[in-house]
Amino acid sequence: MGSEPARFCGLWRNSYVALERKVNDEFKGLQRAIFVLSLFLTAAAIVVVNVLLYSPSIRQDWLDEDNLLFGITPHKTINNRRILDPASINGVYFGASIDWKAKDVPVAFNQRFGKPLPFVMCFTNMTAANGLALVRELKYIADTVLRVDGAILGLTVMPVDPLDQMSDAVYDQLGRVCAEINRYGIPVMLRFAHEMNGNWFSYGQAPGAYRASFIKAASAVKKYTNLTSMVWAPNSPIGYPWLAAGGGPAVGSADFLAMDTNQDGKLDHHDDPYTPYYPGDDYVDWIGFSVFHFGENLTANTVPGPDDFRTAIQHVAGNETGAPTWDIYDQFAHARNKPFAVMETGAAYYPNDVRLDDPSEMEVKRAWWKQVYSTDTLKRFPLMKLISWFDIAEDEQVNRGEKGSSFYYRDFRISWNHNITTQFLADLPPRVFFENARESALL
Ligand SMILES: *[C@@H]1O[C@H](CO)[C@@H](O)[C@H](O)[C@H]1NC(C)=O
Ligand SMILES: *[C@@H]1O[C@H](CO)[C@@H](O)[C@H](O)[C@H]1NC(C)=O
Ligand SMILES: *[C@@H]1O[C@H](CO)[C@@H](O)[C@H](O)[C@H]1NC(C)=O
Ligand SMILES: *[C@@H]1O[C@H](CO)[C@@H](O)[C@H](O)[C@H]1NC(C)=O
Ligand SMILES: *[C@@H]1O[C@H](CO)[C@@H](O)[C@H](O)[C@H]1NC(C)=O
Repeated sequence: MGSEPARFCGLWRNSYVALERKVNDEFKGLQRAIFVLSLFLTAAAIVVVNVLLYSPSIRQDWLDEDNLLFGITPHKTINNRRILDPASINGVYFGASIDWKAKDVPVAFNQRFGKPLPFVMCFTNMTAANGLALVRELKYIADTVLRVDGAILGLTVMPVDPLDQMSDAVYDQLGRVCAEINRYGIPVMLRFAHEMNGNWFSYGQAPGAYRASFIKAASAVKKYTNLTSMVWAPNSPIGYPWLAAGGGPAVGSADFLAMDTNQDGKLDHHDDPYTPYYPGDDYVDWIGFSVFHFGENLTANTVPGPDDFRTAIQHVAGNETGAPTWDIYDQFAHARNKPFAVMETGAAYYPNDVRLDDPSEMEVKRAWWKQVYSTDTLKRFPLMKLISWFDIAEDEQVNRGEKGSSFYYRDFRISWNHNITTQFLADLPPRVFFENARESALL
């Protein structure tokens, strides 16, 4: 009797164990399958993320970034955002490079300064591998520009790799990004590879590659938008070609021959500092310029000479008889009837290097802005439509020839010290305009 249930139990136990083993085996099989699948999915995700991170062209195709590059909803449309047209005004718009890295934004500038910016400048790198380095930051910048009325965005794009390594996809992305910013109602003035006649950027003094690159950038931009203008912006020619400390193209190379405009076998101030780099009237909307007062030896607090600004534009190179004049306004703006913009200017004050009897910050800066934003400037250069102040303080590297190079803290700002701002605004002549100037006043 007793054995029946026992046997049954034994049987039951045996079949239970068998069942359990079977279930376990199947479960293990399932577990293994899930494990293998998750390994595969993880690997696939890593591949996808890497492709998205490192290939802008594939990223564009996969995500169809054409219409949603930034993915933000504009809170003002192009239709009710005032579109300024600096080229058409009778006078000069004020503008500023603000310190985005230090979290300055146009709203804050306008509050501090007491006047609304019509133009604000930002800088971004461009690499051969990734195109624009800061698409996310540009979204942030465009978003902050949208929060103030009317302002135009100055976009300075600095290629980091040699220009001949930039693929068509890189230019295409540049065109799309400009179009995307424009779609929010923000006009862009694209200052592509500025100060190309200097030898301090990787793309400097390579006129052949530079001209080809500028043409590609202009063509890509025009393909996607008509609210971005191309600014060709060489540096002030004072000291051109800056070869005392080395650099420059190899003697006899195509770039050397292009830069040796008087064909005397050497590069010096007798060579035209602009024409070798000019990409052609069809690709240039604005003639841009940079000119600063850096003080004596580029490192000391000194008051600028009374005519320094004008003579940087109308530059007589050398003091010998027959020294050539390189006049960017006359040669490029006037001769080709193109609007002219000083995209960067300012006077450096060195608060960490103050010597006994140095002029004050006010004296240094005021002597500069009074000649830059002056009735004389407006009268002499009627095609000058925009003058943008470099409102930044930063450590800058100064090359001092055989003394090597070192960093100096230069403060160019005019919006952070109330006394300076007040004096600046009081000194402005009529016909220097801010964003709030009425249409009728601009004529
Ligand atoms: C831009 O490129 C320069 C030169 O390569 C580099 O020093 C700088 O850090 C870059 N800036 C950004 C924001 O990537
Ligand atoms: C610019 O493009 C817009 C939209 O495509 C168009 O409506 C406008 O007429 C164009 N403007 C000019 C001056 O071509
Ligand atoms: C500029 O450099 C010269 C030569 O080294 C020197 O004699 C002069 O004192 C310097 N000026 C200033 C303001 O540092
Ligand atoms: C002319 O320029 C040279 C080279 O820059 C300089 O050494 C010289 O002092 C200058 N002469 C005059 C009269 O300014
Ligand atoms: C501003 O000017 C006043 C009066 O001249 C002076 O007392 C004050 O120190 C100045 N402030 C700054 C930050 O320069």
